[in-house]
Amino acid sequence: DKGLRIADKGYLNTAVMRSEITYIDGEAGILRYRGYPIEQLALHSNHLETAYLLLYGSLPTKYQATLFEEEVLHHGVVHSDAEQFFRSFRYDAHPMAMLTSAFAYLGSYYAEANPSLQGQTLYTKGSPESLAIMDKQILRLIGKATTLAAMAYRVRQGRDFVTPPTGLSYTGSFLYQMDHLGQENYVPNPVLERALDVLFLLHADHELNASSTTVLQTGSSLVDPYSAIAAGCASLYGPLHGGANEAVIRMLISIGKPENVPAFLEAVKRREKVLSGFGHRVYKTSDPRSFIVRKTADEVFKVTGRDELLETAMALHDAAMKDEYFTSRKLAPNVDFWSGLIYRAMGFPLDFFPVLFAVPRVVGWLAHWRQMMLQDGGVKIWRPRQIYVGEGKREYVPVDQRV
Ligand code: SDX
Repeated sequence: DKGLRIADKGYLNTAVMRSEITYIDGEAGILRYRGYPIEQLALHSNHLETAYLLLYGSLPTKYQATLFEEEVLHHGVVHSDAEQFFRSFRYDAHPMAMLTSAFAYLGSYYAEANPSLQGQTLYTKGSPESLAIMDKQILRLIGKATTLAAMAYRVRQGRDFVTPPTGLSYTGSFLYQMDHLGQENYVPNPVLERALDVLFLLHADHELNASSTTVLQTGSSLVDPYSAIAAGCASLYGPLHGGANEAVIRMLISIGKPENVPAFLEAVKRREKVLSGFGHRVYKTSDPRSFIVRKTADEVFKVTGRDELLETAMALHDAAMKDEYFTSRKLAPNVDFWSGLIYRAMGFPLDFFPVLFAVPRVVGWLAHWRQMMLQDGGVKIWRPRQIYVGEGKREYVPVDQRV
């Protein structure tokens, strides 16, 4: 086996690279973006400022922050051809399927995205022009992520598409485009806008989770970033990852009343059901984001009214946290356990919840992609090895001699 060391199943405890972006301490329940504790960023920062921090390594000055926001919002518009693209989906296509395709579609627009033409020279030199193109691609993808998501939403609703407005914040512009009461009646709600912006910031990055790893694995072949982001979006779609926020609400609806919680937990112990929103590969005490999401939920419920599922969620949380089956496996709520209750209270349709995870996570995916593109010595394609445990050499047997 040429001295190969096999990584445990699912890359358990396997580091594939060094990174300066996000730090997680799973035992202590710590999460920091470029050294700043997530609790401080959630309290004082906003999604685009945090995006700048994750991408470029420091908090922006007022001027840098203003310019970055203007640039991102400027790139919010998509070519009107995108309307035909979105109209090609059935009205009930899952929004994550539409968004995943839309990112790859975006790549078909931009000449520099054609790897055979320029992929080889564009990124590996780290030249000023490649930096300029890279940063424009980053602005395009962050700016258009909300617009593409809103277009997927309008397909689901059977409504016309909405041109991104001017004069609203990144999150405000997204809510405006999503507003199902019709844009002429849109009344900004600062509490809901701030709550969604905090949720975006909390979901912006999380080190080498499955979808970020997918983006790096894909981007390491020097394919364009639009295609690499489409790959990451496909990975996030899964119920073990970003699809969990949707799965949590379906779980709570299936449980119904709090008095049904004990029976549900027994079914989970018999492995007949999954306790979505609990457990994490890295956090073995608690996911620090879940506390912030829980607090944000209370802010939102003051405006929207409490969701009757909250009682069930709290009963489920309290019962699981006291149950030896879960505590012995170090299972605690992750970022997805409470977030769906907020999205539901804000009126988003259930299958749209993973999209609300993907939109902000575009920032983290791009921060890791940019770090890889600029790493010393240029990009190395990610090509792991395996330990072969199959058949030894065999001779071919003609079909009429096989039994
Ligand atoms: C996210 O990686 C990231 O950082 C992801 C994320 C991010 O920001 O990018 O944080 C976002 O994806 C959060 C996770 C959302 N997924 C869910 O909530 C789905 C439910 N959770 C599980 O599927 C699971 O906990 C995972 C996938 C999150 C983690 O799985 P691991 O690390 O592979 O753990 P495991 O499956 O080996 O579980 C260890 C034990 C097992 O028990 P035994 O078989 O050894 O007896 O815990 C059990 C598991 O059966 N277990 C659960 C459980 N999660 C793990 N049992 C019941 N319910 C669960 N949710």
